[in-house]
Amino acid sequence: MITLINNIKELIQVEDFPQKKVSGKKMKILPTIKNAFLLIENNIIKDFGNINNFKDKNIVVDNLIDASGKMVLPTWCDSHTHIVYAGNREQEFIDRIKGLSYEEIANNGGGILNSAKKLQTISEENLYKQSAKRIEEIMQLGTGAVEIKSGYGLTKDAELKMLRVIKKLNNNYPITIKATFLGAHALPIEFKNNKSGYLDFVINEILPIVVKEDLAEFIDIFCETGYFSVKDTERLLKAGEKFGLIPKIHVNQFTAIGGVQIGVKYNALSVDHLEEMRAKDIEVLKNSNTMPVALPSCSYFLGIPYTPARKIIDAGLPLALATDYNPGSTPSGNMNFVVSTACIKMKLTPEEAINAATINGAYAMGLEKTHGSICRGKKANFILTKKIPSYGFIPYSFGNHQIDQVFIEGLKI
Ligand code: NIG
Ligand code: FE
Repeated sequence: MITLINNIKELIQVEDFPQKKVSGKKMKILPTIKNAFLLIENNIIKDFGNINNFKDKNIVVDNLIDASGKMVLPTWCDSHTHIVYAGNREQEFIDRIKGLSYEEIANNGGGILNSAKKLQTISEENLYKQSAKRIEEIMQLGTGAVEIKSGYGLTKDAELKMLRVIKKLNNNYPITIKATFLGAHALPIEFKNNKSGYLDFVINEILPIVVKEDLAEFIDIFCETGYFSVKDTERLLKAGEKFGLIPKIHVNQFTAIGGVQIGVKYNALSVDHLEEMRAKDIEVLKNSNTMPVALPSCSYFLGIPYTPARKIIDAGLPLALATDYNPGSTPSGNMNFVVSTACIKMKLTPEEAINAATINGAYAMGLEKTHGSICRGKKANFILTKKIPSYGFIPYSFGNHQIDQVFIEGLKI
C-alpha cells in the first residue's frame, strides 16, 4: 500500500543518514523541510522532500492526504513507563494534597507495595485489559514506541504475569514495545529484614525464567535511599550482565548516592530520573554511551525538583524525555505534556525537547535504527498535526495537544 502525504507545511526531524543520538549544542538543531511530501510504502518511509522534488509523478497512490497548513513529525518515543499496573492510587494523591510525602505514604504501606498487592491478585486477562486501555490512550496521544517495566509484582508469579502481559500487548498492537525486568523495585513485606534474601530470590529464581522465556531485554532497579543501595544495584547488574540483559536504571530521584556511576560502569543504556544531580554525576556521563533520561511529569506530579536539563545539555551531553507513566508518581502517559513541561520548567528550547522526545528517546530503547526520525527505511510512524503556525506551537499550547492523526506502521490509528 502506498500513502502520500502532500503539501506538508513543515516536515520535522528529517534525516538522510540516521544518527544514533543528538548531544549538547546539536540538540538545538531540528532539521525540517518546508512544503514537503512524505511517501510511505506499507509500513516504511519510502521517500520525502520538498514537493518540487517529487519525481514519481505517475505513481499510483492508495491513500492521498492533503496536509495543507499542517505539520508532520515522528511519533514520540517514550523510553520509561510502568504502564502495566492494576487499579489506581488516587487516595495517595489526596493524602499528598493533605500534606503527607511520597516517602511517608510508602512507609505506611502505600506506594509500590500498594500497587503490588493489587497486581498479585488480579487475573492476567484483567491486567491485560486495564493496560491495553492505556496503550490505546498513548497511541492516540502520538506515542509510537514505548518501554514498559515490570516491578509491581514482586513475587515470581506476579512479575512473570506482568511481563507476559507486556509481551502480549506488543504482539497485539502496532506500537513497538520494549520490556524491562524491574523485580528489584521495592522490598516485599515477606523480606522486610532480608534485602539480600530478596535479591537472591530475584537473581536466582526469577531472572533465569525471564531470560529463558525471552520476556525482557533490559534490567532495572530502584537505586535509592530506603530501597536498593549502590551495592545492591551492582550485584543485580552483574547478574543481569551474565544473562545478557542491558541496564536501564532508576537513579537519583530523591537522593544522589552513586547510581549514575554504577550505571555507567555497567554500560547502562540509560540512567533515568536524575532529579538530584551532583557535578560528578554529570561528569561521569561524559564519554559514556549512557543516555540521561528526564521525567518532568513525575517532578510535576510529586512537586519534586526537575532534572537539571540545562546543566546536562550544556555539558555537551544528550538528554531524552519520557513520561514515567505509573499509578504512584506519574499517572499520565502524555508525551505532549512532557515536551511542554520540559520547555517551561527545564528551559529546553522546542528543538531540544523534540530531539529529546524522538531520536534520543529511540536511542534509550535501542530503537534508533527504526524509530525517532523521518528517515528513508525507518518505520512509518508519524504525527500529522492540526493546522498550526509553527512547531513551537506544540510545546507552547501546554495541556493541550496539536495532533490531528497518528500513523503507526503506516496505518492511521
Ligand atoms: O519511577 N521511582 C520508582 N518507581 C516509580 C514510581 C513507583 C510508584 O510510586 O508506584 C517512578 O517514579
Ligand atoms: Fe519509573
